[in-house]
Amino acid sequence: MNTELLKVDPNAPDPAIVARAAGRVRAGGLVAFPTETVYGLGANALDPAAVRRIFAAKGRPSSNPVIVHVADPAQIGNVAADWPATAARLAGRFWPGPLTLVVARQPDVPDEVTAGGPTVAVRCPDHPVAQALLRAAGVPVAAPSANRSTELSPTRAEHVMKGLGGRIDLILDGGPCRGGIESTVVDVTGPVARLLRPGLITVPMLEEVVGKVEASRERQRPEEVARSPGQMAKHYSPRTKLRLVDGRDIVDDLLEASAGGFKAGLLPLHGANAMPGDPVAYAAELYHRLHELDEAGLDLILVEQPPDTPEWAAVLDRLARAAATA
Ligand code: TXA
Ligand code: MG
Repeated sequence: MNTELLKVDPNAPDPAIVARAAGRVRAGGLVAFPTETVYGLGANALDPAAVRRIFAAKGRPSSNPVIVHVADPAQIGNVAADWPATAARLAGRFWPGPLTLVVARQPDVPDEVTAGGPTVAVRCPDHPVAQALLRAAGVPVAAPSANRSTELSPTRAEHVMKGLGGRIDLILDGGPCRGGIESTVVDVTGPVARLLRPGLITVPMLEEVVGKVEASRERQRPEEVARSPGQMAKHYSPRTKLRLVDGRDIVDDLLEASAGGFKAGLLPLHGANAMPGDPVAYAAELYHRLHELDEAGLDLILVEQPPDTPEWAAVLDRLARAAATA
């Protein structure tokens, strides 16, 4: 399949190009598009064959449900069977934006989207290109991150082309994504909101709106994995082996690696080529830097461990997964 790559102005996408992409979505095709978090791989969420194509292109296990994107919170009725007060409050505060809410599904939502489960994850993105595409398509759009399963998420159109070129119909190139890591996922089906995936909307920000949020930091409890397979330990990984190291040891570790004949690359927080010291700016650059290091023919990527504080939770989560070997 020839993958068409069309550039758009991220703030004012050309309506003719958006219409072309939306036509592909309505016809059952696969279209990658920028959001404020990462690039998504979109298909008509109400077309089971189109959604199956997403899984085939990504090599994603059918047991991992996908997020449904809507242009407007008013469209939620087509997807969700129930809209609890917690959902309404969180959506009221953070939509459009990088927050995904897990709610009871409408029967019309295909099993392919929900992995056969009783819930559906929904998100209203605020990127102008995502908004324009969703409005022009006129259907809810199922969209996981536009990468091969378990690999690094894409924050630029080049990353999408590298991973999925030849496997999808079209890529809308709206430049780099602002946020840089995937949305916060919150299950609001129970009496207390429950964090399934940390993101740039932090637990303290959620708690300001709905009170206590359950945010167990334990990973890989079997029932959690079944609920949200994106919590599988190995996910969002470069191909190159990655190790998290203490800043004080990073030079020693680098010397040791080179002495052992290994080519190592660094993602430091200090000195030359340092990553930003602020978690939001760090997140915006993280995947791009990892994609670059992953292409550099290295044996090992050494990442300086950021501080273990709540603002860094989402970054620490992605780094831990990138470092996981299974
Ligand atoms: O920022 C994002 O969320 C990006 C952009 C494209 O919107 N999308 C994204 O999708 O990261 P994906 O498929 O890579 O991650 C979706 C996460 C996975 O961890 C999945 O298991 C979880 O959401 N999820 C989806 N539906 C769910 C459901 N019904 N219940 C629990 N978790 C669900
Ligand atoms: Mg993903």
